[in-house]
Formats: sequence, structure tokens, C-alpha cells
Amino acid sequence: MLQWQVDEDRCVGCGECVTECPVGIIELRDGVAGILPHREKACLQCQHCLAVCPVGAFSMAGVQPDACAPLGEMPAPEAMDRLLRQRRSCRRFAQKPVEPALFQRLVEALAYAPTGKNVRATRFTVVDDASVMERLRHTVMEGVARAAADGTLPEGLGFFAALARRFAEGQDLVFRKAPHMIIASSPKGGPSPEADVYIALAQLELLAQSLGLGTLWCGFATWAIQAVVPHVARSLGIPEDHVMYVMLLGYPAVRFHRAVQREIRHSFRVTLDLQSQPW
Ligand SMILES: Cc1cc2nc3c(=O)[nH]c(=O)nc-3n(C[C@H](O)[C@H](O)[C@H](O)COP(=O)(O)O)c2cc1C
Repeated sequence: MLQWQVDEDRCVGCGECVTECPVGIIELRDGVAGILPHREKACLQCQHCLAVCPVGAFSMAGVQPDACAPLGEMPAPEAMDRLLRQRRSCRRFAQKPVEPALFQRLVEALAYAPTGKNVRATRFTVVDDASVMERLRHTVMEGVARAAADGTLPEGLGFFAALARRFAEGQDLVFRKAPHMIIASSPKGGPSPEADVYIALAQLELLAQSLGLGTLWCGFATWAIQAVVPHVARSLGIPEDHVMYVMLLGYPAVRFHRAVQREIRHSFRVTLDLQSQPW
């Protein structure tokens, strides 16, 4: 049962909520909005009804319209474009932890990433303590080295033997000695687990970089944890039926002096006859 209410004294019967609801479960009854009783279960809890209501008549699952943040100005397009172009992968991190308040801010922002059907089933496993990270990367790389020595590296991941050797020599090509990491994971059975994980981390990356942090999408760490030492994923509480991805995080120890140059490589536009032509 949803804790879903319309303040009848506030509702002006404009019907915005009816039109906006993605699953069509709101109707106007005698000029007042109400949820169709037999359709309650279809509610995505997306809060669009609450957000679109001009008079704040909707409250839902304990969310009061008057307690919602007012809308501020969006970042200027030039600023957004600059962020997209200047975002860089960071492979050199300062050995300086990110402040807890900054971490908190990043983690809280993760809640705003869209998810398929608004399931919000993504689990965020956060290593905010640099000493935990130190232990974790050693545990993972020792496991990788053991698998390499035993000849049990999964097919296609033989290159981890060289990465383990380099790690033993003090060169961390997997975790890049990052002081922090966040693993986003989501149940495989959900509507769009991979997309949910990637979107959340992509949003996190942009916010982190706008705050002066460095980030790295880390396929190496993802494969190592997922496929070579899955017991580490279990010990971290990541369920076996989750897809996951690792993002490394910390203050950068590298300074870039210019943006890179890239052009789109494979871009086509669809014509009226439903064919596509080079853009
Ligand atoms: C899904 C994904 C996985 C990646 N995995 C790694 C990785 O394991 N190690 C690494 O050094 N870089 C990794 N990268 C970084 C890419 O190499 C990098 O994005 C690319 O070279 C372009 O550089 P830029 O991010 O600075 O634009 C990964 C990037 C993505 C998007």
C-alpha cells in the first residue's frame, strides 16, 4: 500500500499529474487528483506527480513537497560542455584522502541517477577509508598472483599474470594506488542492471571531476574482483547475481594543460526512407 496523498485543499485540478504520470494511474475525480485504486501497484514511485504539481498538492511515501529543494538554475551549457570535454581518466592519484564531507556529497548524489523502471536496486560499495583501500588492493593482487601461479586465471585474463608481477615490483597498474573506490552493482534480473550501474558511475564521475577529484573507470579491477577473486566481492557483500563496475577515486596527482581533440567516428543520420547516411 502506497503512502500516497493528495491535499484536496491545495489541488486545483489542473491535470498536470494525470498527463505526466508515466504509468497512467492518476485520474481527476470531481476536479481533484487521485490514484486509480486498482492500479496502485503500477506506481514507479518516480515522484513526477509531486514534482510537476504547481501547487504542491502531492506527497508520497513520506516525501513532502514543501521539503523538496526548489529548482535552481541549470549549469550553463558552456560549463557542461567544458566538463564533458575536460573530464579525463586519472591514473595518478595523490596519497591524500578525500574529506568525509566531500565523499558524503558524492554518495548522496548517486541517489539521483535514473534507473530502469525506477527500481533503484543499485548497490554502492564505498571504500572511503584509504587504509581499507590499501588492504583491499593488496588482497586482490595477492589473489591474482596466486591464480597466475596456480594457472587458474580465467580464460582471456592471462594478462593478469604480468599485472601481478608488476604489482610485486611496486607498480600498481590495476588500482593505480587510488585512495578510494566505489563499486556499483545491480541484480542481473532487474530491468536494466548494466545501464543502471554505468549511468550512476558516469554521473558520479562528472560531479567528482567538477569538484576537483580524479576518477578512473577501472575494467582491470572489475575483472579481477569479479572473475579472478570473486570471494573478495562476496566478502564485500556484493551478491553473486550482481553485475558490477569499479570506479577509482581520489585527488589527482596529474595536471592536464589542455583538452584532447576527438571527433565522432561512427555517426549517421536517419533519413525519411529509414536508411542511415554518414552524418
Ligand atoms: C568502461 C571503461 C573501463 C576502463 N578501464 C580502464 C582500466 O582498467 N584501466 C585504465 O587505465 N583505464 C581504463 N579506462 C580508461 C580508458 O582507457 C579511457 O577512458 C580512454 O583511454 C580515454 O581517456 P579519457 O577517459 O581521459 O578521455 C576505462 C574506461 C572505461 C570507459
